[in-house]
Amino acid sequence: MAIDRFGRRIHYLRISLTDHCNLRCIYCMPEEITFHPTAELMQDDEILTLVRLFTGLGFDKFRLTGGEPTVRARVVELVRAISATPGVEKLSMTTNGVLLGRMAQPLKEAGLQRVNISLDTLNPQKFQRLTRWGKLEEVWAGIQAAEKAGLTPIKLNAVVVRGYNEADVADLARLTVEHAWQVRFIEMMPFGDTSEFQTSQTIHMAEIQALIEAETGPLQPIAGDGPGPRLDGEARLFRLPHAQGDIGFISSVSNPFCAFCTRARLTADGRLRLCLLREGEVDLLTPLRAGASLAELRQRVIDGIWQKPWGHGLAEGLIPLNRVMSEIGG
Ligand code: 5AD
Ligand code: SF4
Repeated sequence: MAIDRFGRRIHYLRISLTDHCNLRCIYCMPEEITFHPTAELMQDDEILTLVRLFTGLGFDKFRLTGGEPTVRARVVELVRAISATPGVEKLSMTTNGVLLGRMAQPLKEAGLQRVNISLDTLNPQKFQRLTRWGKLEEVWAGIQAAEKAGLTPIKLNAVVVRGYNEADVADLARLTVEHAWQVRFIEMMPFGDTSEFQTSQTIHMAEIQALIEAETGPLQPIAGDGPGPRLDGEARLFRLPHAQGDIGFISSVSNPFCAFCTRARLTADGRLRLCLLREGEVDLLTPLRAGASLAELRQRVIDGIWQKPWGHGLAEGLIPLNRVMSEIGG
């Protein structure tokens, strides 16, 4: 079992399959970005070795991220191999949905269980402005294909950016009336070169909720075990009256959920990232390529997890500078 020094049991690994992407969302990447050469990224066999190492430490929940994971070559075969690994109980993917129209069914057949799809607006022009060149209809087709393939329950991620899509949050929330989807509103987080824009245009949960409620009326908190709304991973859950789906708020900036964190991340270049918003990483790929034994790598992971920071330092003005979001995978 992997436990950190605060007693949190860490058993959820998010693996970035590539830092490449077929979009350039303004909240994620600078327009001019150099991607890692493929040789610097983990190869399929290296990913599988590390997945086995993590299942050996009690990790049972895995999410594939990017960049955009579906642009990785042979991703369906990789999903098949990861899902067949003993100990992998849950396997999901975060994707922009652009390629799901044709890939949802093969991914499902390969053992992928669920997808989270980015959708920040229902307005095609605004969608293009946010993603720099994306086509909303492709993503919409991707969502339909994912539902048809059974990659459910579908969760939609909307990062709210002042001046871009804050007027669209109620329309997104209303999708849940007819669809059994979870629409999640995400506070924009600051990273590296993109942090100035991110910090100035972020909108906190309270304001997002007020913008929605101004059009829909009050949201109902879904009751959980403790005080406050139920937590689903990092999302605090609400519902519109008579809705099929849920609304989630991911308030990593204004109201972080660090106490309940169970996750670690593997960057596409094979570093174990202990907290999304802290720079600390443990290199696994370099020692793996240098011939380190599995026992040595395992010890590196155990020691790294033990040192996992309690939480982020945004309130003290500490912004992680060593990577942008697309290199970590969210
Ligand atoms: N802040 C918060 N979420 C972000 N995402 C990308 N960039 C940011 C950011 N700066 C989210 C998107 C996408 C997922 C990969 O990460 O919602 O769905
Ligand atoms: Fe690509 Fe996702 Fe980043 Fe958008 S948020 S640029 S789709 S990795």
